[in-house]
Order: sequence, then C-alpha cells, then structure tokens
Amino acid sequence: MKTISQLFENNRTWATGMLQTDPHFFMRLAKQQTPHFLWIGCADSRVPANEIVGLLPGELFVHRNVANLMVHADLNCLSVLHYAVEVLTVEHIIVCGHYGCGGVKAAVENPPHGLVDDWLRPIRDMQRRQSGALSRLPTAEQRLDRLCELNVIEQVMNVGNTTVLQGAWRRGQQVTVHGWIYSISDGLLRDLSVCLSSLADLERMETGGRS
Ligand code: CO
Repeated sequence: MKTISQLFENNRTWATGMLQTDPHFFMRLAKQQTPHFLWIGCADSRVPANEIVGLLPGELFVHRNVANLMVHADLNCLSVLHYAVEVLTVEHIIVCGHYGCGGVKAAVENPPHGLVDDWLRPIRDMQRRQSGALSRLPTAEQRLDRLCELNVIEQVMNVGNTTVLQGAWRRGQQVTVHGWIYSISDGLLRDLSVCLSSLADLERMETGGRS
C-alpha cells in the first residue's frame, strides 16, 4: 500500500515531468480553463476519467458520484452541469457508466446498506420497471451489466430533461449528451448510441426511438 508521503513524492515527479514536456503548462492553466467536455461518471477508483480518454488537466470538466447518477434534486450535480453548459459552454456531456458497477449492484441486492440505498433508489426503481426484459437474460452478471447500460441511458435522459439543457437547446446552443459505458476488464469504452443534441432528440428517445 502507498503511504501519504509517497503521494507527495509522486506529485513532484509528475509536475516536473509535465514541465519538461511543456514549460508553460501550469502557468497557462492557472489563467483559465477551457474544457470542451463534461464527464459525469462513477466514483469507482478503477474508472479515472481523464486517464481513460487521454485528456490533460484543463481538458475535461468532471463530476463523479456513486453509480453516475443525475438526480434532479442534486444541487451538486446540477451546479456542475449549469457551470459547464452556461459558463464553460462545453460542447459534449458524457455520462459514463461501467460494467460491474458496485453502486448498481448495491441498488438491487439485499440486505440493505443504509444511506447509500436512498441515493441508489432510482436504480432500484428502474430495475423494477425493466424486470421483464432483465429476466430474459440468463445470468446474474448479464442482468447486472444490462442494468449498468440502462442506468446510463436513464441518466442521459435525466441530463436532457434538466432546465439547464432544455434552456441551452432553446437558445440554440450546440451541446450534445452522450451515453458511454466502460469495461474495467479490457479498459475500453463503448458508445451506447443514445446521443441527444436537441429537444427533438429527447422527445424521440422518450417516445421509444433511439436518436
Ligand atoms: Co460504479
């Protein structure tokens, strides 16, 4: 296990290395950030946002929580979304889930885990709504992985239904919401093809069609 002092050592090595590649890197970043992407992902330590998409500091605005949820009463996520869309004017919002998500698993299993069950409640509700389709999958692992995908799709719709995105699209702002899923076992991202770029896309998706 790494110690706290090792983290500081790592940090000095990293900062020195960055300066060797680009002597003005931190000076430039200190002045402003202009990321084009917002990432809404799971807090899982195995899904490090910047690293898996190869983006440097300053290139990705990030919000992570347990099971990558966009809950409409969550002021934290809404504030991130508001700032990203209205101030940073990001062009792409990526909701990224991952297979084998412990949060999704915890949402549907018994016995209860306490407070996190309240946070994960939307996933449990979704499992109930999708129980027919899920029960046709042969293994528990496949059912969990499908639920991870369905959760991403649901959160893409939730982002699209926020006042932030609705307002941006009404103003004609170019911003697209994407739904991706990451596989911890091979390090690869998959696009779930649930892109939303307008109110019309959202309407189409809500009535059952994929954009
Ligand atoms: Co997770």
